[in-house]
Amino acid sequence: MTVLDEEPEVHKGLAGVLADTTSISKVDAETNSLLYRGYPVQDLCAHRTFLDVAHLLWSGDLPTPSEQQALSEREKALRPIDRSLQTLLMQMPTTCHPMDTLRTAVSWLGSEDVQEDDPQANASKSLRLLAALPTVVAIDQRRRRGLDPIAPDPSLDYSANFFHMTFGSVPEPEVVRAFEVSMILYAEHSFNASTFTARVVTSTLSDLYSAVVAGIGALKGPLHGGANEAVMHMLSEIDGPEEAEAWLSEALAAKKKIMGFGHRVYKRGDSRVPTLQASLEEVAALRGADDLLATHAALAAAMFREKGLHPNLDYPAGPLYHLMGFDIPMFTPLFVMSRITGWTAHISEQLAANSLIRPLAAYQGTGWRQVTA
Ligand code: ACO
Repeated sequence: MTVLDEEPEVHKGLAGVLADTTSISKVDAETNSLLYRGYPVQDLCAHRTFLDVAHLLWSGDLPTPSEQQALSEREKALRPIDRSLQTLLMQMPTTCHPMDTLRTAVSWLGSEDVQEDDPQANASKSLRLLAALPTVVAIDQRRRRGLDPIAPDPSLDYSANFFHMTFGSVPEPEVVRAFEVSMILYAEHSFNASTFTARVVTSTLSDLYSAVVAGIGALKGPLHGGANEAVMHMLSEIDGPEEAEAWLSEALAAKKKIMGFGHRVYKRGDSRVPTLQASLEEVAALRGADDLLATHAALAAAMFREKGLHPNLDYPAGPLYHLMGFDIPMFTPLFVMSRITGWTAHISEQLAANSLIRPLAAYQGTGWRQVTA
């Protein structure tokens, strides 16, 4: 027998539920805007670096020139990873997803870290992760191609160094800037699934690394960060712009979710898309990828006609990372390299005014019954 004593109001997927307050970012679906600590994200993309944005998310303000320099020096100093972690990375199966490598690496970094769990130590752990994760991702990308690691180069800034460690060279300034823009746009988005996961773990007074590992697990899924990979797989299946409409009809008839479209909060378009779309178009022009861009546009137009759904950030991110030369399974780890800033800002905010996150569930199972021997 199914028992429901009364009809409680259930907010499936916590849709529309205000779970707490935050001062880190404001996602406004009505005006299609996203503010980090009050600054419009597109303005940060136009005028600031990813490290500036990390400082903003963590401290509440953009850095002064001396703070900028200090942060850059610390980031450069914290890039190298020790030999034991390199050995561990090399031993991981190449059949595992790169998000599994990253999850394991964060767990390892946590096991090595002897600092307490106080706010100051958490600030240093956050920066350590921001600086070391690109090194881990670059090593993982290279080992999957049978290549040796390349050491970080302290003469290069964050994004240029990441290209250097991954490919052994730094591309055109426009490409480096487009990557930086993607890092800024992916950095923070309020109570999204992975950030909320990190806050749930933090609310039990567990440690920062455990919260980040859990966040990585949540981000891996294709309904969240994994969508940027799925977008590129999908575009690879479509044989040119003229095929987009037919491909979509078939996929929708098969009741497939079309990756990179729709959003839980934004129903009239994702505020971050125009900025990253402009970066995609710039990089596509440099790489002579007109056909890919035309297919991308044709699918978006067909999706709007068929379902009235707009693209989300993962839709331009997938082809952008492809044109930059990353293998598809590396796309979600790139998202982690950025979102580490938002997660750790939220971990600090959660700890500063903590309350255990523990919702209720409306029981719908079998009613009371006697246990028989
Ligand atoms: N493709 C096809 N149909 C869709 C899509 C999509 N991408 N998104 C929503 N719909 C349809 C649903 O099938 C549903 O239709 P129905 O009412 O006829 O059943 C309706 O729109 C509502 O969809 P929900 O999944 O209930 O909307 P919700 O707000 O829960 O989901 C989500 C948001 C999960 C992002 C969804 O749009 C989706 O699955 N998109 C594809 C995955 C994706 O791109 N994720 C990235 C999110 S952004 C980010 O992480 C940076």
